[in-house]
Amino acid sequence: MPIRYHHSSRVLHAFLMFWIFLSCFPGYTLSAVVTLESIEIYRTHEWLKDPKVYFHCKDENRTRLPDVKKAHVVYAFNGQESWQPLTEFPGTKCKRCGLYEKDTIKTDDTFDEWEFCPSDFDADGKYNRVKAKEFNATFLCVQCVPKAAASNSANPAPDSHHGGKGVHVALVILISALVSTVMVVGVVMAFKYWQKKKRDQDQARFLKLFEDGDDVEDELGLDTVI
Ligand SMILES: *[C@@H]1O[C@H](CO)[C@@H](O)[C@H](O)[C@H]1NC(C)=O
Ligand SMILES: *[C@@H]1O[C@H](CO)[C@@H](O)[C@H](O)[C@H]1NC(C)=O
Repeated sequence: MPIRYHHSSRVLHAFLMFWIFLSCFPGYTLSAVVTLESIEIYRTHEWLKDPKVYFHCKDENRTRLPDVKKAHVVYAFNGQESWQPLTEFPGTKCKRCGLYEKDTIKTDDTFDEWEFCPSDFDADGKYNRVKAKEFNATFLCVQCVPKAAASNSANPAPDSHHGGKGVHVALVILISALVSTVMVVGVVMAFKYWQKKKRDQDQARFLKLFEDGDDVEDELGLDTVI
């Protein structure tokens, strides 16, 4: 009986651990990494030297884009460059970010500054930002997709919305299946335990009856001797 009890508590423990793991599902608590996929600048603000272009989000470090030196050239990146990623989104909140060019004499020039949001990214995890006469950049954030769908119900991209819903439905089904499995296992164990207890009781009663019978026989034996 103690072994059985131990076993059932272990099942419950494993289930609890799994549930805790699920509640930490990526896309809800893990941060989403943003990388630069491609960029083309349409102009430089510096006349004599190569431009020093950098990406910067408020309260974060600057990210220099060392390869971007000429206007009207498309620079493509694979996301593994030494200066990547550009930033991270810890939740669904937007950040104030921009693309700038370092200026040696006066304050740095701004290509563009905008509210950068996880919900900007489409179903493929891409976000293309174009500013006329300034630049065209494509950002990549694969983990932003379910986040955007979950946070922004007015999201115009139906594909990403469906993707987020699919994950939710799958989770609900998985959890329901787990809960029912644990319940069935619990009921079976309780039944088995009850069965064993009943059998033990029956056995005890039978033995007792047998002993009682012996007594009766002894008494009878005595009787015959007398
Ligand atoms: C910014 O850079 C400094 C030193 O280079 C580093 O210690 C710090 O962790 C960086 N902060 C972020 C948010 O990356
Ligand atoms: C911006 O760049 C992307 C990727 O290189 C390209 O597909 C898109 O057509 C460009 N958009 C404009 C307006 O140049």
